[in-house]
Amino acid sequence: MTSGNPPTICLIPGDGIGSEVVFAAAECLASLGLNLQFSQAQAGFDWFKTSGNAIPDETLANIETAGIALFGATSSPSTQVQGYRSPILLMRKTFDLYANLRPVFSLPGGFSRSGINLLIVRENTEGLYAGRERREGDTAIAERIITRNASLRIARIAFEQAKNHPYTQVFQKYLHLPTRQESLVTVVHKANVLKLTDGLFRESCLQVASEFPGLNMNELLVDAAAMRLIRDPENFDTIVTTNLFGDILSDEASALMGGLGVAPSANLGKKIAIFEPVHGSAPDIAGLGIANPLGAIFSSVMLLEFIGLSDAAARLTSAVYLTLLEEVMTQDLGGSATTSQVTHRIISNIKSNLIN
Ligand code: NAI
Ligand code: MG
Repeated sequence: MTSGNPPTICLIPGDGIGSEVVFAAAECLASLGLNLQFSQAQAGFDWFKTSGNAIPDETLANIETAGIALFGATSSPSTQVQGYRSPILLMRKTFDLYANLRPVFSLPGGFSRSGINLLIVRENTEGLYAGRERREGDTAIAERIITRNASLRIARIAFEQAKNHPYTQVFQKYLHLPTRQESLVTVVHKANVLKLTDGLFRESCLQVASEFPGLNMNELLVDAAAMRLIRDPENFDTIVTTNLFGDILSDEASALMGGLGVAPSANLGKKIAIFEPVHGSAPDIAGLGIANPLGAIFSSVMLLEFIGLSDAAARLTSAVYLTLLEEVMTQDLGGSATTSQVTHRIISNIKSNLIN
């Protein structure tokens, strides 16, 4: 990926703070001097209101051409709107982006818990987000789809991650995170109640565990896992779980890092990879210029690592680390800097010779 033409990254800003953080991250990427190319594509509720389409075909084609995308966030109303479905759910389904990797790590500063270096591996295509909901009079039904195939492939990703930690090595090294003594995969489920669906998920994970004899595995019921993530997060390494549980646990775990504003993620499929901050469109702060760009910037670090530009990923991570040490940060972390001030300090730290 590093030879030949410079890679093109498709930017999908979306709604609310989505565009603020995506353009901030793109500025950081552009400042690395890699000659990266960018394309831009539409998606989201605002686009739906003007065009009747949540995610136009051109956007899907644009993502397919680039192969890699940086997505901001889109808004999805909590009531049903005819013809609208969350674009990120559609992209995950359309491109079969079956693995959602969500690293959770300590950052320098009192806003973050220390000693944390874990990865949540979330199944991204089925479960309760399969989109099979219906109303029968006063009864509403959601089908929770769990297949052996999807469970096996997400479990394999989790065990491979636990073995090599490929997408978190840059964070580990350049954020000075604690190193793990032993790899451990924690399978999170609720098979004591959901005996068939989570029973199949658990069974699949146990099967994959037997393919990785050198790795440790344990299991936790999701409610206990939610408690343990707060009580002793430093004891976790790699968590693998189903779609909804992974969504909830990763928002919870982001609080350990400093909040939703800093948490990154990668949606990986066989051919396409879409990187996005964990947070949503944050309508409460949209347009104020105070959104934290770090979730999108750390997502860009994952993107750089994914395309084999590990040195650039390291430079960007070091620049963020330095910026946090300088206490240049947004309000959600207890600072007073704007999105633009944080971004420009990171860029000047990238350019200074002090790094590496
Ligand atoms: P949210 O993540 O947008 O915001 C939750 C809280 O965290 C808000 O108080 C917000 O101000 C704060 N926050 C989030 N990101 C921040 C940042 N970068 N800097 C500073 N503060 C930040 O979640 P919420 O409020 O539940 O949902 C808002 C909208 O976003 C909804 O329409 C929802 O459907 C959508 N959403 C979209 C996602 C996506 O496109 N991937 C993911 C999650 C929610
Ligand atoms: Mg979420």
